[in-house]
Amino acid sequence: MNNDIFTSKFVVLDGPDGCGKTTQTKLLSAHIESLGYKVENFRDPGTTIIGEAIRGILLGHDYHGMDDNVELLLYMAARAQLWKEKIAPALAAGSCVVMDRWLSSSCAYQGYAGGFGIEAVVDIANISLKRSFPDTTIILDLPLDKSSSRLDESLDRMEAKGDIYHRKVRDGYIEFAKLYKSNEGAAGAIHIIDASQDIETVQEIVLEKVLESLTA
Ligand code: TMP
Repeated sequence: MNNDIFTSKFVVLDGPDGCGKTTQTKLLSAHIESLGYKVENFRDPGTTIIGEAIRGILLGHDYHGMDDNVELLLYMAARAQLWKEKIAPALAAGSCVVMDRWLSSSCAYQGYAGGFGIEAVVDIANISLKRSFPDTTIILDLPLDKSSSRLDESLDRMEAKGDIYHRKVRDGYIEFAKLYKSNEGAAGAIHIIDASQDIETVQEIVLEKVLESLTA
């Protein structure tokens, strides 16, 4: 096996609210660290001071009048700051970066469910971000009846958008994978995993898919 397999690699775990990606992000990171690699975890939107402030605006209930375009641009703005302040330096220092969400979220939520268009979101990303796509995107797929039961009662502004919106979010991830899976590696590797299985099984498959894509 290539000894540098996790050095300076950019890995994203993504999926609908309640899919378990935060748990899986931590488990994957702990595993990579146990192999002796440096790992950094960041959440998108957030992590930086600017990003956490933008996150407060995006998820708080004071801004229900937010225009869909503004929503997309705020997510992209938080991401641009996160890249510059945290991700780029971590990759340059040789760390493996394991992200809780990234561009695939904007494609599924604002692009597909919100109607902006997945390819239009990628166009905005390409002119806003130094790097749009990671080495690997893992999408944890879960139907709405299972994912919504995993959320607590105090829904944030995005979680409160309703069932029709959130069903589209799930379809949006699948559409995103279809559109970018076979574009000759320019979007990195993209894998969809059935997240309705138990945590340990999902953890094993996530690791297998990440290894498969980073050693390909
Ligand atoms: P989180 O609670 O999983 O950290 O994600 C925050 C919420 O923001 C979640 O409902 C998904 C949503 N979101 C988008 O709508 N677009 C995006 O680009 C990102 C990163 C998150």
